[in-house]
Amino acid sequence: MTTLAFDVYGTLIDTAGVTTALRQHVGDNAVTFSNLWRQKQLEYTWRYGLMGHYQDFNICTQQALAYCCDQLECDISLADQKTLMDGYLELPAFNDVMDGLEALKSAGIEMYAFSNGRPTDLSALLDHAQITPYLSGVVSVHPKQTFKPNPVVYQHFVDSSGASREDCWLVSSNGFDVCGAVSVDMKAIWIQRNNAVKFDHWTQRPTKVIDSFSKLKNIFV
Ligand code: 2OP
Repeated sequence: MTTLAFDVYGTLIDTAGVTTALRQHVGDNAVTFSNLWRQKQLEYTWRYGLMGHYQDFNICTQQALAYCCDQLECDISLADQKTLMDGYLELPAFNDVMDGLEALKSAGIEMYAFSNGRPTDLSALLDHAQITPYLSGVVSVHPKQTFKPNPVVYQHFVDSSGASREDCWLVSSNGFDVCGAVSVDMKAIWIQRNNAVKFDHWTQRPTKVIDSFSKLKNIFV
């Protein structure tokens, strides 16, 4: 049975949703700040993963925020940093997500969220964005104490969903995530919402590429 594993941050959920809150603190630097925050957050997951020294995703996000304050010379108090971190639990879904989920659910497709996030954070985030009712479950890398694209976490998804690997499709806007899944013989769809974002010139290529989450229905329905 076809089983979809949706990446969360950057695919279902728009991490740039923090930009509005950031504007109060850093003004016109909000977009630069938000992009650097996300970039550093991911870099920290890769570095902690390679070091074999797991720090959960919330810590990576918090440490990346503190780094951005230093790097961009923005004086955001610890209390305000905490408020920004709380806002990370209330990020919005991308506009094309609900339409896609609705069509897939009506077609009886098995859907999961699959993410680097901590289980408790993912529950809060997906509840807030009203995505939870569409899902059969939420699979976090946390029990494996490492991050995407370690092959261990994709196997953890296959084991947790109970589906066969051939039936599992990762759906992600994050190129490194797509490469990770394809590298362990899962199928993977890359969502290229922004034409300015290019795919890596690697041998691992997405099985399919679409420009909107809502177009998943053209593949599976
Ligand atoms: C996620 O696992 C990679 O941030 C991405 O949700």
